[in-house]
Amino acid sequence: MLSHKRDHYCGLLTEAMAGQSVHLSGWVQRTRDLGGVVFVWLRDREGLVQLVFDTAVCSQEIFDLGRSLRSEYVVTVQGEVRLRAENAINRELKTGTIEVFVTDAVLLNKSETPPIYIDDKADENELVRLKYRYLDLRRPSMQEKLRLRSKVVNCIRYALDEEGFTEIETPILSKSTPEGARDFLVPSRQHPGTFYALPQSPQIYKQLLMLSGFDKYYQIARCFRDEDNRADRQPEFTQCDIEMSFIDEEIIYGVIEKVFARIFREVKGVELQLPLPRMTWAYAMENYGSDKPDTRFEMRLVNLTDAVKDSEFVVFKNAIENGDRVEAINAKGLASMTRKEIDSYAEFVKTYRAKGLPYMTFTADGNVKSSFNKFLTPELIEAVRTAMNAEPGDIVFFGADKKSVVWQSLGALRCEIAKRHSLIDHSLYNLFWVTEFPLFEYSEEEGRYVAAHHPFTSWYTEDNQYLDTDKEKVRSRAYDLVMNGIELASGSIRIHRADLQAQMFDMIGLSSEEAHHRFGFLLDAFKYGAPPHGGLAFGIDRLVMLLTDSDSLRDVIAFPKATSANCLMMETPADVRPDQLETLKIKVDLSEEE
Ligand code: AMO
Ligand code: AMP
Repeated sequence: MLSHKRDHYCGLLTEAMAGQSVHLSGWVQRTRDLGGVVFVWLRDREGLVQLVFDTAVCSQEIFDLGRSLRSEYVVTVQGEVRLRAENAINRELKTGTIEVFVTDAVLLNKSETPPIYIDDKADENELVRLKYRYLDLRRPSMQEKLRLRSKVVNCIRYALDEEGFTEIETPILSKSTPEGARDFLVPSRQHPGTFYALPQSPQIYKQLLMLSGFDKYYQIARCFRDEDNRADRQPEFTQCDIEMSFIDEEIIYGVIEKVFARIFREVKGVELQLPLPRMTWAYAMENYGSDKPDTRFEMRLVNLTDAVKDSEFVVFKNAIENGDRVEAINAKGLASMTRKEIDSYAEFVKTYRAKGLPYMTFTADGNVKSSFNKFLTPELIEAVRTAMNAEPGDIVFFGADKKSVVWQSLGALRCEIAKRHSLIDHSLYNLFWVTEFPLFEYSEEEGRYVAAHHPFTSWYTEDNQYLDTDKEKVRSRAYDLVMNGIELASGSIRIHRADLQAQMFDMIGLSSEEAHHRFGFLLDAFKYGAPPHGGLAFGIDRLVMLLTDSDSLRDVIAFPKATSANCLMMETPADVRPDQLETLKIKVDLSEEE
């Protein structure tokens, strides 16, 4: 009997093999029974090929087997590759000029009718896809994405190995590493009442490895963050984590640019122009209202505070009197958008805390209208026309509020308008560095300044003068790598002196006791000759999402979590046996949940 050990992949058969006998194994994509002859599409990881069961070539028994095949049955066949007649060529199939006339076949396994079509063209509900992920992963596009992902990781390893990096694994059962999210906790059996935290990143370990003298470290590291899922966020994700000693920003940029150039060359056939462009955080915010700007289209923010300072329009007037600002974006050529669309944008900016969305339309016939006609003076029109370079056919949207609200709302609005009006050129890969992030960020929630990146980041000593008086002005030595509006990588030059690290903890309101309780080992370690060091981490899931033009991280992770951090396939998280909880000395009280 025919074994299941094939000698060729379906999708790799070519015309050059015509006349050859091949042994194939795979899944039945679909069958077409024409009575005297049965056509079966056989699929494996490389693609599809058409099998032909024809009694002129095979026995009646094999022919009957061919007729009995159904979608997703597993079969192995021996057959002869033949060229198709000109009128039978299928241009949609990579192997569409040939077919395989089956001489022998064995049914290896049957399948129930699958709950989803194993077909990229089928528009299946994502919840069903996630529940039957193992079937979803049979789809060619999913196979391609995960294979590309593997290739990306290989590129990273080769590139970093060439640069003299050592890969070192760090613990998963760990202690809280602050990266701005909640920790996932793991209760300890041997020490009841205490918990490990899953690492939000290997940040502290990699800094300690620099202290140990490893000099150039990397790790393909799994990170865990208990935060709300979004399209570009998963509770469990993978970073390429990097740290180096005796370096500065330039050396880090150089290494990462080489890694990225290699990935783009080998995976996409794209030559990146190096060095990558850079912009400061302040420039990014002023122009795009975002620290991860999508630069594939313009529609930049313009500060109009000065230009409209004499306007009587209450919204502008109040903002300026409060010491806030007025900014605007010009949606060029979109003046004819409907009132309904404009209203939807006004709703949209509310999610970014804007209280309204004034606008001014420069109609094609040369008129000007606005949502505040009462205050529309010739002077105001002129000021806006000049500052915004507004021409007939344009519509200008204003933000008048605190700097942060104006930036966030107009920054998000420019992306939303660009998306809805297809202003984005999807063939572009706009990759660049954003530098000089602020060191601190005010947390409304906690009522104090927190570290904008993480508390191990150093700052420009020129800005020491602002440390006490004007924290928001202090620039950190942190940098991000941004592509097409998504933050891909983030890193910094670190603090490497115990006194400065203690000062940092103090500045973010961590008492000396708490700092010692949480990070004593790090402060201790810094007493034993820590070298100057720095590094960064980039999100592999996010990179692969961009390289494969996917909409969500879920499409590039084999077994991702759904939106509420649950796995629909395994049904995790799940309850555990009472005796397991007892061993851990844990009592669950859900009364408040009810
Ligand atoms: P950061 O927290 O910015 O920095 O993370 C670095 C990169 O990891 C990716 N990333 C994520 N990807 C998917 N889902 C998530 N929830 C998620 N969170 C982050 C992003 C991000 O740019 N220890 C520092 C790095 C350093 O300073 O060296 C850190 O973790 O692509
Ligand atoms: P109204 O005077 O309410 O008709 O508003 C005139 C325009 O100003 C509309 O486009 C509103 O969206 C906008 N607007 C009203 N109040 C505010 C506010 N507090 N902040 C920003 N825009 C506002």
